[in-house]
Amino acid sequence: MKSAEIRQKFLDFFASKGHQVVNSSPLVPGNDPTIMFTVAGMVQFKDVFLGFDKRNYTRATTSQKCLRAGGKHNDLENVGYTARHHTFFEMLGNFSFGDYFKRDAIHYAWEFLTGPEWLAIPKEKLMVTIYASDDEAYEIWNQQIGIPTDKIIRIGDNKGAPYASDNFWAMGDTGPCGPCTEIFYDHGDHIWGGPPGSADEDGDRFVEIWNNVFMQFNRDAEGVMHPLPKPSVDTGMGLERLSALLQKVHTNYEIDLFVALLQAAAKETGVPYNQDTPSLKVIADHIRACSFLIADGVLPSNEGRGYVLRRIIRRAVRHGYKLGQKSAFFYKLVATLVAEMGHAYPELVQKQAQIEDLLKYEEELFAKTLENGMALLDTALAGGKTILDGATAFKLSDTYGFPIDLTADVCREKNVSVDMEGFEIALNTQRAQSKAAGQFKAVTGLEYDGSASVFHGYTEHSREAKVLALYKGNEPVQVLNAGEAGVVVLDHTPFYAESGGQAGDVGQIFAGNILFDVTDTQKVKSDVFGHQGMLSNGSLNVGDTVTACIDLAKRQASQRNHSATHLLHATLRSVLGTHVEQKGSLVTFERTRFDFSQPRPVTPAEIAQIEALVNEEIMRNDAVSAAEMSFDDAIAAGAMALFGEKYGDDVRVLQMGEFSTELCGGTHVGRTGDIGLFKVVSEAGIAAGIRRIEAITGSAALALIQAQDSEIKTLAAMTQSKPGELAAKLEKLQAELKSAQKEIQGLKGQMAFAQLDTLLGGGLRTIKGVKCLGAIVEGADGAVLREMSDKVMDRLQSGISLLASVSDGKVSLIARVSKDLTGRIKASELVNFVAQQVGGKGGGKPDMAQAGGTEPENLNAALASIPAWLTEKL
Ligand code: GLY
Repeated sequence: MKSAEIRQKFLDFFASKGHQVVNSSPLVPGNDPTIMFTVAGMVQFKDVFLGFDKRNYTRATTSQKCLRAGGKHNDLENVGYTARHHTFFEMLGNFSFGDYFKRDAIHYAWEFLTGPEWLAIPKEKLMVTIYASDDEAYEIWNQQIGIPTDKIIRIGDNKGAPYASDNFWAMGDTGPCGPCTEIFYDHGDHIWGGPPGSADEDGDRFVEIWNNVFMQFNRDAEGVMHPLPKPSVDTGMGLERLSALLQKVHTNYEIDLFVALLQAAAKETGVPYNQDTPSLKVIADHIRACSFLIADGVLPSNEGRGYVLRRIIRRAVRHGYKLGQKSAFFYKLVATLVAEMGHAYPELVQKQAQIEDLLKYEEELFAKTLENGMALLDTALAGGKTILDGATAFKLSDTYGFPIDLTADVCREKNVSVDMEGFEIALNTQRAQSKAAGQFKAVTGLEYDGSASVFHGYTEHSREAKVLALYKGNEPVQVLNAGEAGVVVLDHTPFYAESGGQAGDVGQIFAGNILFDVTDTQKVKSDVFGHQGMLSNGSLNVGDTVTACIDLAKRQASQRNHSATHLLHATLRSVLGTHVEQKGSLVTFERTRFDFSQPRPVTPAEIAQIEALVNEEIMRNDAVSAAEMSFDDAIAAGAMALFGEKYGDDVRVLQMGEFSTELCGGTHVGRTGDIGLFKVVSEAGIAAGIRRIEAITGSAALALIQAQDSEIKTLAAMTQSKPGELAAKLEKLQAELKSAQKEIQGLKGQMAFAQLDTLLGGGLRTIKGVKCLGAIVEGADGAVLREMSDKVMDRLQSGISLLASVSDGKVSLIARVSKDLTGRIKASELVNFVAQQVGGKGGGKPDMAQAGGTEPENLNAALASIPAWLTEKL
């Protein structure tokens, strides 16, 4: 039975039992920071189990894309080494939200697996486990289903803590959980392995195929179990395992879904196809995980989900390298995957080109360090070492981009273990060092336990305030004196402190003759603002009443740039697609810098379109409004929240007409028209799949355009053309220049050749019966010199010549020896004899050799030394 048929049968079975068939959710769970990836079918229903979300059905069934790599559920290390582990797999599941419970769940599972019109698996091949204290499940299996007692195994808390058991399932450290009953298939006694709970349970003979979880609790962050509003059911059955047993093969890698991938992996790495080659299995597994992750919006990076993706890619590439493939190959498997699974998962088809581009880029990136890293590892392990030291493992990760699990994977093949403790120490030392180096903001780490600062900067630019605290360097002081640099904390302030990508305000704090120049504003704590700068006049005391006044022109410039950033973000999504997500931003009064996910460069035509659209929004002159509301209301109102960003319960929603709605605490223009003008100044890639746009607004944009315009006018005047005709004029001038250069070249040659007779007449000597010429050819370049040497040798027939020329402060030399004389002297010897006297060296063949030199001032003496040298040599 094909995998696609099994998938369909499962959904049909549960649909016939009143279940709603629900689509798979993405691999990245929506708005759930407690887990990295969708690890099971229940993840999309988490809030339904918890009672926070209501659906118009109480029974559901899915075939869900799952990923178990990184975090609590992690099978990455096992992939390639067992018959049944994957990073990516499909999980078939049925769910009851307070509807049926243990009895029906077990009956449904049994009917689907063994029913003649469904999978018809022989009953005697199945056995089950239950949570040790679950007598109810025991009764159902034994009394109602008829499973003999020796095939029902009770498993207790076998993982070292209460509820830590193979038969107690939890999504993550917190969230829905409960006891479970698992169904195992016996692949037969010709395969190694023991029943669940035995010492040999890790073998491949008894394979768990279905897990029925009786969802009863919600575990909180303290580990306390709270009963769920209604007992529920969550089940999970790996499609690949089920296919293996129905297709009567013993490993998942032999099923229909994998065969084509393994064949493609063999072809692209250039090895014979063999289902037992662990590296081929790793590659076939990983291409699924990587492609589905990218299709669901994850990009390779050095942190979080992106790092898991990068680790999987690198692991696959390393296994290709192990098979002898040193060029990019992994991305070529995407086409086979799309052919195999694209019909069930159309996102693969839609994103094929993007997946291929990204994988190729990542492979090429890693290829640069892979070979050197492997050489370092081989050296470190030479001489039969059984443990790899932590410092080398760290160097491999830090310098060569080897994720630690990749290093461990290589070591495992050689029966070497990694000193993980040493690795952690090296890693932590480096982290501490870079943290220390990063503490350049003067306010970081200031001790402060006074009251908060109240921020008025959305509406006010100047206001009276009281000095709450003063710091000289890092030290709290009562008074700051003229000439001292420090930090001022005020009870009220119009100064915006750097956050959300917007730089801190600059300005002045003053009273009477006291003047403190604020060069930056940073948060000392989340609601305490530190004004950094220097007291240029008077003495400032804690308790003083002062006026705090921002530099309004700079603030307004920052606001223009910040508001333009929101318009840019919305425009990028409409021009390039909704895969565009903000990955970083920095807004200052000078410009905005915006980083975003995008697999390929933005074309000049797209940039022009983006500029036009942003400027259109500016001309629309919509009002910019801000409103405080709850996070949930903001999302419901369509506000764009940043991926991976933490928000409080109450958020500020910034809206610009209909065009852009974002969560943002920054300061903005009143109407979009205040931005004036928007101009992109650069577009570049900064990491795999991440592009950066820099742009300017308002008078800075105008100034740039004016400067460029004036430059064009100057160029037009210099070339005696007009701005619109500049390119044609320059093309014409370039062609003229080229032909003039060609002419000069020809003339130089003629001038040089004219010297031939003079040279031969004046410089020719006969040494030991051999005609020898050493001479400087005026005005010749390398090419002319070579031609001259041909002419000289034509005249001499038998003889030796060394010609030299000087141009642009450099010496060119060419030595020739006629074939009949190369047994006595070689051209390369002669050319080097001269070259080393003029600061150079050369080489060539016995009859012709060339050299360069940097000391033309020594050339005459070098030529003069030739006759004596030849006399000795010949
Ligand atoms: N949620 C059930 C399982 O993953 O096994």
